[in-house]
Amino acid sequence: MNVLVFDTIQEASQKAFEVFQEALANNAKVFGLATGSTPEALYEIMVNSDIDFTDSISVNLDEYYGLAGDHAQSYNYFMNEHLFNKKPFKANYLPDGTNTDSDAEVERYNKILAANPVDLQLLGIGGNGHIGFNEPGTDFNGHTQLVDLAPSTIEANKRFFASAEDVPSKAYSMGIASILESKQILLLAFGEGKAEAVKGMVEGPVTNELPASALQNHDNVTVIVDKAAASLLS
Ligand code: F6R
Repeated sequence: MNVLVFDTIQEASQKAFEVFQEALANNAKVFGLATGSTPEALYEIMVNSDIDFTDSISVNLDEYYGLAGDHAQSYNYFMNEHLFNKKPFKANYLPDGTNTDSDAEVERYNKILAANPVDLQLLGIGGNGHIGFNEPGTDFNGHTQLVDLAPSTIEANKRFFASAEDVPSKAYSMGIASILESKQILLLAFGEGKAEAVKGMVEGPVTNELPASALQNHDNVTVIVDKAAASLLS
């Protein structure tokens, strides 16, 4: 893993933007994208730049189960608001949170991923070490699945909802195996709440108790962190 530490989120996000520019210059076509607060500064830099995704395809990591695309907390809505409405792609794919036939939805999304192998996958990390919504204990061989959110994830994400009860308890998420199939991975982590997970991911044993540690098994991973998230690294 190539770990790069920056003083501020803005500088770190600028570097992440350059990683996207470089991938595009090297003919990357499919971008795996993430939601959450971490990539917001990166998406803002993209929106205010002349980067051109009109020949690119995006596939998102995950979507809350039960939320329609027009729900303000759905990841579909987030992506439209933060990126797609202002920076159009040729096609955007996200899991369909309203599909209650989980076998069909998982099959549909895995087919999309097989037809559109990811060139560059952007990731955030949960304070508990999750990537996508692959929570501690996850099977590293998994592809897209309907997963239960960990209580700590519901607690962390309730800031976006009226209350913890309003946070969906399940989500569709690409699996660890899906993530590791991408050619290049870029993980961003900001703030001291991520420091322990970052340390485990970079320096700890590869264990499904810290899902991000699976990235040690990939040969092209860049980790971009601010000083607070890097504070426990030796
Ligand atoms: C988002 C995702 C999650 C987040 C993680 C960090 O699509 O898959 O793994 O990246 O929960 O969330 P934030 O960035 O809000 O701290």
